Amino acid sequence: MSGKPLRAGGSAARIAVIAGDGIGKEVTPESIKAIRAVIDSKNQSARRQIEFIEFDWGADKFLREGVTLPAGAVEMLANDFDAILFGALGDPRVPSNQHAADILLGLRFKLDLFVNARPVELFHDRLTPLRDRSTNDVRFMVFRENTEGLYVGVGGFFKKDTADEIAVQEDVNSRKGVERIIRHAFDYARSNRLKRVCMSDKSNAMTFAHDLWQRVFKQVRQEYPEIESRHLYIDTLAMEVVRDPRQFDVIVTCNLFGDIISDLGAQLAGGLGLAPSGNIHPGRTSLFEPVHGSAPNIAGKGIANPLGSILTAGMMLDFLGWKSESESLRNAVRSTLQENFVTPDLGGDKGTVEVGDWIAARVGSR
Ligand code: NAD
Ligand code: IPM
Ligand code: MN
Repeated sequence: MSGKPLRAGGSAARIAVIAGDGIGKEVTPESIKAIRAVIDSKNQSARRQIEFIEFDWGADKFLREGVTLPAGAVEMLANDFDAILFGALGDPRVPSNQHAADILLGLRFKLDLFVNARPVELFHDRLTPLRDRSTNDVRFMVFRENTEGLYVGVGGFFKKDTADEIAVQEDVNSRKGVERIIRHAFDYARSNRLKRVCMSDKSNAMTFAHDLWQRVFKQVRQEYPEIESRHLYIDTLAMEVVRDPRQFDVIVTCNLFGDIISDLGAQLAGGLGLAPSGNIHPGRTSLFEPVHGSAPNIAGKGIANPLGSILTAGMMLDFLGWKSESESLRNAVRSTLQENFVTPDLGGDKGTVEVGDWIAARVGSR
C-alpha cells in the first residue's frame, strides 16, 4: 500500500480517531491499545511516536447539536493528520443515516479517498463456511471504487409521497475515476507479484456506465501484460467466489458492487467481525475502518469482535510505512484465532476488552 510521508519525518504520526456509534466506540479503543502495545514492545531506539486525537463525531453529537461533519474538518484532517482511525456510524435514532452520509461518505469524497481496499484473508480453516477450504484458498483483495457510482447522492424525488412518486438515483462514473481505480488494482498486483486481476461490472445491463468500465479496463490492462486480466459480471463473480475462491488475487469493481462483494468476502473469511478496510488516496491523509457497521443488535453488551478493527489498525500502520509493527498486529490476531480466544460471533465466550487485552499482551511479547 503506498503510504503517506509522515509530516514529522518518518517516526511520529498524528492519528485522528473517530470511534463513531455503537460498537465503533467499543472496538476502536482496543485498536488503540493494540497499537500502543506494539509500539511499546520495540526497543527504545526503534520505538515510533504516535499521537491519537479523538473526535466525538457521530449520532450523539448530531442529535445534541445538529452537527455532522463540523466546518473546517476536512481541511484540518488533510493538513494536520497522517491518518484517521474510524469505528462505525449508524444509529437507530437517526433512521435517515444523515450523519453517516455526511461524515463517512463526506470524508471519502472530500478527501478523495478513491481506493477502498478490503482484503479477504482466511486466518484459520475453521472460520470459513465453505466446505473443504483452507487458509491458502481464501486470499484476495477487493478494490472498491470509493468516490463515484451510485453513492454520489445525485438524484431526487418527483411527486414525493403520492401514488405517482418517482425516485431517481444517478450512477456517476468518470473516465478518470474508473481509470485510477483499475490502474491501482493492476499496480497493486504488480508490486505484490500477484498474477490475476478480475474486473467486475454489470455491463450487460448497465450499458452506459459499465460500458465505460469495459473500455477503460481493456485499455489499461494492455500496460500490464504479465498480469492475467479477466472480466466477470458481478452476479457471476458472487457465485464464483463462493464456488472456488482460489481463482482470485485482486478484484476491482464499482462502489456499490464493492460494498456487497466485500461483505460476502468477509463472511468467507470468518465474518464481518474480522474484516478490515482502508479508504486510501496514496500519499494523502487516509481513513481506516473495519468493514462492519455499528451493530446496534449487540452494541453496549461488550461482546463485539475487536479483531476487524485491530487488523484495520494494522493496515493503517502499513500505510504509514511501519511494516514490522503492522506484521506484529496481524500475527497477534492469527494467534488469537489459533488459540480460539474469541468473541461469540466466532463461537467463543470472550468479551471485546478481554480479546483486546489478550492481543495487547501478546503483541508485546513477540
Ligand atoms: P453491521 O455490520 O453493523 O451488522 C451486521 C451483523 O454483523 C450484525 O448481526 C452484527 O451484530 C454483526 N457484526 C458486525 N460487526 C461485528 C463485530 N465486530 N463483532 C460481532 N458481530 C458483528 O451492519 P447492519 O446491521 O446492516 O448496520 C447497522 C448500522 O451500521 C446501520 O446504521 C448501517 O448503515 C451502519 N453501517 C455502517 C458502516 C460504517 O460505518 N462503515 C458499515 C456498515 C453498516
Ligand atoms: C461500508 C458501509 C457504508 C457503505 C454505508 C454505511 C454507507 O456499508 O462502509 O461498507 O455502503 O459504504
Ligand atoms: Mn458495507
